[in-house]
Amino acid sequence: MFCLHYFPKLKNDAFLRACHGQETNHVPVWCMRQAGRYLPEFREFRAGKDFFETCRSPAACCELTLQPLRRFPFDAAIIFSDILVIPQAMGMDVQMVAGKGPTFPEPLKEPEDLLLLQPKVDVNKELGYVFKAITLTRHKLDGKVPLIGFTGAPWTLMAYMIEGGGSTTHSKAKRWLYRHPEASHKLLKMLTDVIVVYLLGQVAAGAQALQVFESHAGCLGPVEFQEFSLPYLRDIARKVKDQLKESGQDVPMIVFAKDGHYGLEDLSQSHYEVVGLDWTIDPRSARERTGGKVSLQGNMDPCALYAPKERISEIVKKMLEGFGTRGYIANLGHGLYPDMDPENVGAFVEAVHTHSRHLNLK
Ligand code: CP3
Repeated sequence: MFCLHYFPKLKNDAFLRACHGQETNHVPVWCMRQAGRYLPEFREFRAGKDFFETCRSPAACCELTLQPLRRFPFDAAIIFSDILVIPQAMGMDVQMVAGKGPTFPEPLKEPEDLLLLQPKVDVNKELGYVFKAITLTRHKLDGKVPLIGFTGAPWTLMAYMIEGGGSTTHSKAKRWLYRHPEASHKLLKMLTDVIVVYLLGQVAAGAQALQVFESHAGCLGPVEFQEFSLPYLRDIARKVKDQLKESGQDVPMIVFAKDGHYGLEDLSQSHYEVVGLDWTIDPRSARERTGGKVSLQGNMDPCALYAPKERISEIVKKMLEGFGTRGYIANLGHGLYPDMDPENVGAFVEAVHTHSRHLNLK
């Protein structure tokens, strides 16, 4: 697969260098959900529009991706989209219900329901709108910072497709793992196949890094993680990298398994350059457990953004001392919440840049 686009030259490569463990002048920083409802301009732009209609408009995705970069000196942009566009591409109806979140009117109930899914998804046709959004955004970014593409991981998507929405126990989806392990593997494999083509399409469209969100790792235990999550995470990275190598491309990949601390050692050996961490892991022990094999990303508690700015600065300093400044990308341990003060997000970004430059000089 060849990249046919000529994009503006990249001016700030700190994020990509950190992904590869190379030296940088400052620690790069971005935030999960940086394009989101905490920004008044986001709320204004999204007002009255259907969420997935917005996802299907490349111009709207481009505008929403760029909004946070106009305010803050983030070192990376992440394309505005959603992980649930994949179940949609496989034939499922998904709606964003205000006050409730993503909702599947007809979730998968029993293994026979797998027959209702598209057996062969034409990813270019179904998800071409995401590729168009990426290409447009990469041009509009004008080389300011790299653009990150993303996907949900198979287990996380499977959980949504069976639960039909958010869940605290994920008991319907976990029931499949214990009662229908074969059908579970079949579904996970179907998802993996679509995800690989989807990620390669994102790179061909202009994505310069890829993040895989295993947001529901936390409801699995180590044994189920080994069987139903890790093999597919590995498969995705290996297949994407093999294909990219053939066309001489090097695109770093990040795996973020939320609350998957039990799997940290394995995640650091799963072909990803970067392991994203939530805030329940101590930076020093994360470094020890991953043995310098990967770069790390994270992991300030998003709620620390409710603290006064001086306190945010202290927390960031401690976090940087714990991770060190090499092979490290600062981020939150999960996404920003809608009630967060944009000023404090700015204070977070500034603290990362200032403290890391100071630590680098020492
Ligand atoms: O990070 C970014 O700025 C890029 C955009 C992005 C969105 N969703 C936009 C969005 C990304 C990377 C996602 C990924 C995503 N979507 C995940 C994985 C990350 C995670 O949070 O663990 C998950 C689980 C989803 C599914 C999803 N989409 C949920 C649970 C929600 C929240 C529903 C709610 O009402 O709070 C969404 C909606 C969503 N996706 C919003 C945004 C900015 C907010 C709704 C809106 O804009 O109206």
